[in-house]
Amino acid sequence: MTELIRFDDVSFAYPNGHVAIENVSLSIAAGEAVAIVGQNGAGKTSTAKVMNGLYKPSKGDVTVAGENTKSRTTAQISRKVGYVFQNPDDQIFHNDVYSEIEFGPKTLGFTGSELEDRVYAAAELSGVSAQLDENPYNLPFSTRKFVAIASTLAMGCEAFILDEPTAGQDLAGMETIGRIVESLKAEGRAIVTITHDMQFVVDNFERVVVMANKHIVADAGKREIFWNLPVLEEAMLKQPYLSELANELQLDGRVLELDEFVQSFRRPQAVERV
Ligand SMILES: Nc1ncnc2c1ncn2[C@@H]1O[C@H](COP(=O)(O)OP(=O)(O)O)[C@@H](O)[C@H]1O
Ligand SMILES: [Mg+2]
Repeated sequence: MTELIRFDDVSFAYPNGHVAIENVSLSIAAGEAVAIVGQNGAGKTSTAKVMNGLYKPSKGDVTVAGENTKSRTTAQISRKVGYVFQNPDDQIFHNDVYSEIEFGPKTLGFTGSELEDRVYAAAELSGVSAQLDENPYNLPFSTRKFVAIASTLAMGCEAFILDEPTAGQDLAGMETIGRIVESLKAEGRAIVTITHDMQFVVDNFERVVVMANKHIVADAGKREIFWNLPVLEEAMLKQPYLSELANELQLDGRVLELDEFVQSFRRPQAVERV
């Protein structure tokens, strides 16, 4: 797999001296789907912003598509790695949704029908086609989040970072986010999500990076992570609900999904133990 993003022993401190991440190393391949999980303040958002060049490391090196981010501007890096802010209000600055979505691809040099196509496609996928003429500030938070997502999608980056995309979303919103992730996967884009929603990870991601107190404390497949109870405890995370239930019932296998739960529950030896 082609490497797209690489962190070599990266630390980052804010201008006030506060160290947000320390000695972080990781590699993300083109087309990979990675979830970063951990408590508030663990350093997830800072890691994401270092990934897309908003911040440059204080120590160590970050490479995006083979280029050290120190030798590139934020604008150059963010063409490759799009970041959707945790809070859409940090990202949105136009007075209508259309202009907001159009801004990124326009900056990339798209014009005419190609530009329009990008705006409409991103709006459609994000479920905001009916709001193109509206002022984003008149829309609810959950819809503003989709406006922010659409603005980034329209740029067609090789990697997308979604910071807490499911926060404040209802079932319909969750389904839209699931569709966006599926569509990006089908196009072979890398997706990195930061999330507190373990079920969202089970449903949509393969690899899980666990952060605690400025560091990566584990980086492995989701089944391995969600059944590594010491790591979860260290990061103050809970197993996904079904895994937790399977653990309580002492079911066989490291259950993640509903059908696995049912199968494991039906196995005679499992039932006897219960
Ligand atoms: N702009 C900032 N200036 C100074 N410290 C910050 C700033 N933003 C975040 N921090 C601090 O950096 C640490 C990591 O924060 P963050 O990356 O936002 O964590 P997470 O996304 O995991 O909640 C926290 O201790 C936080 O208080
Ligand atoms: Mg955060």
